[in-house]
Formats: sequence, structure tokens, C-alpha cells
Amino acid sequence: MKTIIEPFRIKSVEPIRMTTQAERTAKLRAAHYNLFGLHADDVIIDLLTDSGTGAMSAEQWAAVMRGDESYAGSPSFARFTAAVQNLMPFKHIIPTHQGRAAEAILMSLFGGAGRNIPSNTHFDTTRGNIEASGAFAHDLNIAEGRDGQSEHPFKGNMDLEALSAFMDRHADTVPVVMITITNNAGGGQPVSLANIRAVAEIAHAHGKPFIIDGCRFAENAWFIKQREAGQADRSIPDIVRDCFAVADGMTMSAKKDAFGNIGGWLALNDDDHAEAARVRLIQTEGFPTYGGLAGRDLDALAQGLSEIVDEDYLRYRTRTHAYIVERLDAMGVPVVKPAGGHAVFIDAKRWLPQIDPLHYPAHAVACRLYEIAGIRSCEIGSVMFGRQPDGTEKPAAMELVRLAFPRRTYTQSHADYVVEACGVLQSEIDTITGFRITKEPKAMRHFTSQFAPV
Ligand code: F0G
Repeated sequence: MKTIIEPFRIKSVEPIRMTTQAERTAKLRAAHYNLFGLHADDVIIDLLTDSGTGAMSAEQWAAVMRGDESYAGSPSFARFTAAVQNLMPFKHIIPTHQGRAAEAILMSLFGGAGRNIPSNTHFDTTRGNIEASGAFAHDLNIAEGRDGQSEHPFKGNMDLEALSAFMDRHADTVPVVMITITNNAGGGQPVSLANIRAVAEIAHAHGKPFIIDGCRFAENAWFIKQREAGQADRSIPDIVRDCFAVADGMTMSAKKDAFGNIGGWLALNDDDHAEAARVRLIQTEGFPTYGGLAGRDLDALAQGLSEIVDEDYLRYRTRTHAYIVERLDAMGVPVVKPAGGHAVFIDAKRWLPQIDPLHYPAHAVACRLYEIAGIRSCEIGSVMFGRQPDGTEKPAAMELVRLAFPRRTYTQSHADYVVEACGVLQSEIDTITGFRITKEPKAMRHFTSQFAPV
């Protein structure tokens, strides 16, 4: 059979409250045109994020009941550790309540004033934790990764020449080399196994540890299996193990590729670093056998890790985004190609050239998609990145709308609905106008700014 179906059937459902366009227009105005300000039950298809929003399986809910809430030495922690180490053979597994907590602890070990930390592209919270420690975050993604039209199979790769030059230049101030798989900020694009190995080699040649931000490790491994020479016949767990075998540690948001609604971890091989991390963990998260989590969360994650590497799931997962990208591309909607692992990215700069970047074309698309169809997406453009540390405003490099898909949550007809909504928007594209900001906070303005149409 050629049709790729959802490899699950539905045992428990959550009704979607349908709304009218007039209702949504009023809700959007009341939220000052900021989609983060909406009530989620006024949203029909919520593509704000793939983080913590996925559906747990029957086996995960069963594992929740098995969870043991002992403060110290919980068997849930033993099951969680075994599940992580089965895929990522690190010596120390340190649970945290989510990814950014692991990053904060990592930066308590490696950050500090004047230090320089390279990656392909740091995710916002990683960058935030690096900068909060006084260090500088550097993005060294290959040029193809910033070109929405390049069909490079591994657009998340690190620019190895740039990394080597960077390491030579900053040898004394680089405490650690990082890489994000997949590259979320760059469109959910994968990193090849060869690139991961080469980055590890460069880091180690300079005597520096190499840490992977592994949030979407299974989607990344699926792309390696599909696209990298010599990997087609290998199992996903084997590819995952190879990716992490060359690293000295990892940070993880288990809200992504562990099918969790909450959770994360920091993994390390070095005993001294792990001891310091656990001290910090006790201060900020909890005892080392639960971190910031309940025992039942640890059990749900242990089970989730055994499900996320299933090839039928990964085939269906990545096919959803590829399907939407193909349909939108055929309709003339500019999209980032090839499709990423967790989201579809619309290029609003190309779709709405009439809107000045500082009138936020991607924000205009996101607002209109909500009005048309109740779809909530996320602007990744000048609203998110435009405000500079010196207070000036500058257009972002790209004006993207991210449609991030929660795992195992929506079906094929929901995907068709998204495509149809983009078609309606396409039919009125010349009439769409931009926005201005009427109120904004000091930092991270996209979450709480207020807007008005121009
Ligand atoms: N690293 C990456 C690559 C991420 O995508 C995220 C979260 C984090 C770290 C932080 O993890 O949320 O558990 O603290 N990304 C979400 C998103 C929020 O919508 O892309 P967290």
C-alpha cells in the first residue's frame, strides 16, 4: 500500500470547539492581535508548538499508574535512566523539569563572562541561558540553512570550516561546542551523522567537550536513515546511538521526542561535571532521582522513548509536513523546503512583499490564518527578533510563520484543513495589511506585546 496512514487508532478524544469567523475576529481583537493571548479553547487547530502538546499512548498512561513517588531512589527513575541510556549511552542522567532547566545547569558549569559558545543554531532558551551567564552564543549553520529554497538534505549542518576557524580564533574562551538536532530555529532541518562526527572531532581536537541539544533526536535520525549514504538499512536506535556516542553530554526537552507533556534531562560523561550539576540540581530542581518531575512523569517518558523510535510513527510524522509543503508549494504559497521534522514554515517575506518587515508580514499571516480557520501558528521574524539590545529595531533575517505539529494529535483531515485555509489566504493575499506594536515589554516581546492593524 502506498497510503501512509496514522499508525494508531484513537481511544480517547478531546472535542474541538468550533467557532465562527466573526467570533474569532472579536477574540483576536480582544487579545490585542497577539495569538499567545488567546484562550486555547478558542483555537480549532493549535500549531503554536510541538512542545508538550503531543498525545500520550495507552501504554504511557498505564506507565503513569506505575509511577513511584518515592523522594529518593524511585524505581521510576531506574526505568527512566535505563530507557535514556538504551539510546544515549551517557554515564550520568540528570532529570529536569524541562529542557531549559537542563540548559541553565549546563551553563552553570560552562558559561561565564567573556566565554564563546558555538552551535549550528542555538535555540532561544539556550541562547538566553548562555547570555544570562555572561557568555556569547554563536550560530555557525551552513549557508544553505538560511536559504528557504535550497534543497540541501541536511540544512541543519554546522559549517565545519567556520567552526574550525572559530575554534582557532577563540581557543581560550570556548568552554564547550554544541549542536542542535534538528535545527529548530532554522526550520526543523536535520544534521547528518557525518557532520555530528566532524563537529565532535573538531571540538575534541581542541580539548573541548561536545554537547548535543537532542530535543528532536528521533526525527533527526529518521532523516539520516532516509538521506545519508550507508544509513538506509540501519535501525533508528542504532543511528541514534551513533549520534550520541561521539558526544560528551546532552540537553533534552522531553516535551518533544520523548512524547512527554513535561520533562527533560541533562546527560554527562564527566564525573566532576556531573557532581557539580547534581549540586545545582538539588538547589533548583529537586533530588537527583526525580529532578523537577513526578515519578509518574519519569515512567511516561521511559515508555515514550521506546515509542518515538518506531519507524511507522516517524514515517507518518515526517510525511504530514512533507505533504503540506508539497500542497502549499503547488498552490504558489512560499514555503521552506524541504519540509522540516516538526513543522511547516511559510516564508511571509516572499508571500507578502507589499508589507514592510517592520509591519510584521509573518505576524499578519498568523493573525489572518486564525481569523480564517481558527489555526494558531507562531511568528518567527521581526516581532520575535527585531528589538535590538541598544533599543533600536531592525528587520529579522527571515519572516517565517511556523506551523508546528503536536505529535500524534491531529489527523490527515486536519492537515487538509490547514492547506485549505492557506488557499483562502492566498486568494486574498494582496489585501492583507500589516501591524504596529502598541505596547511591548522589555524583553521577549513576542509573548506579550500588543498590536494594532496599520
Ligand atoms: N532546545 C530546542 C531545540 C527547543 O526547540 C526547545 C523548546 C528547547 C531547547 C527548550 O526546551 O521548552 O522544554 O524548556 N522549544 C519549544 C518550541 C518551546 O516551541 O520550539 P523546553
